[in-house]
Amino acid sequence: MNVLCTGGAGYVGSACLRRILRFGYDAVAYDNLSTGNRAAVPDGRLIVGDILDRDALERTMRDCRIGAVMHFAALASVPDSIADPGSYWLTNVIGTKNVLDAMIECDVPLILFSSTAATYAFTSDMPLTESSLQDPHVPYGTTKLTAERLIHDYARAYGLGYTFLRYFNASGADPDGTHGEARAAESHLIPLIFGVATGRREKLTVYGGDWPTPDGTCIRDYVHTTDLAAAHQLALETLEPGMGRAYNVGSGSGSSVLEVIGACESVIGRSIPYEVVERRPGDPAVLIASPSKLEQELGWKRRYDRLSTIVETAWAWHRTHPDGYATSRSMAGPLHA
Ligand SMILES: NC(=O)c1ccc[n+]([C@@H]2O[C@H](COP(=O)([O-])OP(=O)(O)OC[C@H]3O[C@@H](n4cnc5c(N)ncnc54)[C@H](O)[C@@H]3O)[C@@H](O)[C@H]2O)c1
Repeated sequence: MNVLCTGGAGYVGSACLRRILRFGYDAVAYDNLSTGNRAAVPDGRLIVGDILDRDALERTMRDCRIGAVMHFAALASVPDSIADPGSYWLTNVIGTKNVLDAMIECDVPLILFSSTAATYAFTSDMPLTESSLQDPHVPYGTTKLTAERLIHDYARAYGLGYTFLRYFNASGADPDGTHGEARAAESHLIPLIFGVATGRREKLTVYGGDWPTPDGTCIRDYVHTTDLAAAHQLALETLEPGMGRAYNVGSGSGSSVLEVIGACESVIGRSIPYEVVERRPGDPAVLIASPSKLEQELGWKRRYDRLSTIVETAWAWHRTHPDGYATSRSMAGPLHA
């Protein structure tokens, strides 16, 4: 089957694209490279295009004889979505509608959608299950939940098959050190910590030290991109027209910001300077997902179930690619920044 990966040059999308190529699918990335990287996509597999360009989407689906879409393309920063909600509604909602309209026009019956923990109500009991209340607190979550509802409505009207994969904190890097997290404007904790370790940033900012958690910092659920990619592959293999499903992709447990800093410090062998500031709007104290449904129904099993190995793979990437895909250093020997 030919698969179109919108946002396939991004951090998660490119990991999933490489995985399904290894598993025998024919696949292409369709990406405007706004936050993605050309070098993250295997040669000959990138089509530069925008999901806001409906004609180009249709052309691509027809030319590449697409049979399924994995829809990763999105704007995905919580603080940016609070500052600039219009852009998030445009890309995440109107962009998704374009993808769906092009699918209907080109008879593409299957879609896997990258959804998020941010669609859930933060007041729910943890760990969250797929039936926990969805009531987003930030525009990023609102737009992703609206996209879910749009997909559901199109599926009912046109018989599409869909799977929502609601993931929590994507993290880590390819174990061979060749691909990892690289965005010009970074807002994710682990790359920010390693940005300090490699001298790109002076210190780390920790938003709130007075949360109702054991050490006062926020707790999040970290999932390795290799495991996320495996979840996508399993979902793709089992998706059929008319099917509608949602799975959390998490670990069932969480780590606090200070625990993640500690894990990174152990890997690099020195301490990371950080400053604790006021809480940030839109952050919940704790976000943890139950992966039981994904494990039971699709047989998903995490390969990276320890925070220490997740951050080891991330450090192997960041220490050899301090400027992302633009530069790389020799892998030889440990690099203590
Ligand atoms: N990273 C996480 O922890 C996380 C957690 C939950 C959900 N998600 C979801 O996973 C998906 C991928 O996230 P990511 O972390 O890889 O982000 P990313 O920014 O690395 O990837 C997004 C990709 O989409 C592309 N893109 C953006 N707007 C586009 C447009 N209009 N047309 C075509 N391409 C466009 C970007 O260039 C980029 O390659 C997103 O949908 C995000 O909401 C991510």
